[in-house]
Amino acid sequence: MLVEIFPDYETLSERAYELVATLIRRKPNCVLGFATGSTPLGLYRRLVEGYRRGELDFSKVVTFNLDEYVGLPPSHPQSYHHFMWANLFQHININPSNVHLPNGMVDDIEAHCDWYEEQIRRVDGIDLQILGIGPNGHLAFNEPGSSLGSRTRIKTLSRATRRANARFFGSEEAVPRHAITMGIGTIMEARRLLLLASGRAKARAVRAMLEGPISAMVSATIVQLHRYAHVLLDAEAASELAYNHHDGISEPFDVH
Ligand code: PGA
Repeated sequence: MLVEIFPDYETLSERAYELVATLIRRKPNCVLGFATGSTPLGLYRRLVEGYRRGELDFSKVVTFNLDEYVGLPPSHPQSYHHFMWANLFQHININPSNVHLPNGMVDDIEAHCDWYEEQIRRVDGIDLQILGIGPNGHLAFNEPGSSLGSRTRIKTLSRATRRANARFFGSEEAVPRHAITMGIGTIMEARRLLLLASGRAKARAVRAMLEGPISAMVSATIVQLHRYAHVLLDAEAASELAYNHHDGISEPFDVH
């Protein structure tokens, strides 16, 4: 694992931008895995600015999002469809037919999940998957107890996740109970992982992810088994690490 620690969220986001922008320039038809949540917003803002400055061309970029709530139509302000269009896609020259998110409104969820996996395979897999981490150590909506070999499927959201996301819905009760999420097995097939974590609320989960034993109870621990897992932390998210990687930052992976 390559772990880099930054003084604050802005420098972390700047680094994430540098890595994603490099990939887009080197491989204009790259396949990016996107995540929702507060953490990648600094990166998305910079991607929009990079596009506006003429530094980035998204016309051939293909995207897959990690997850979507079941029961929310794409137009719902809290749906992840809406989040991605409002915060990124509508501001850049992405081809809408290259954008993929699970659809939380389908009747046959199982068939839809199989179809989603097939779409990822059809483009020869994800080059770089951006990830956040939940305070409970989840990756995407792979809640504690998720099979480490899981594929895209429906998951019941944990109490902790619904509580963490209540801030967007006004109350915990209003948070959907289920989501469609890429599985841990799906995420692990991405050629590179770029995981971002910021703030004290993530410090315990980050410690478990990087220093704890691999466990289905903390799905993010699986990144220890990935060949190219790149983790960007701010000082607060890194504050509980026993092995603090402050010095001796190694070179980033060559992106091709
Ligand atoms: P956050 O969510 O970026 O809003 O903290 C991350 C997650 O729950 O995976």
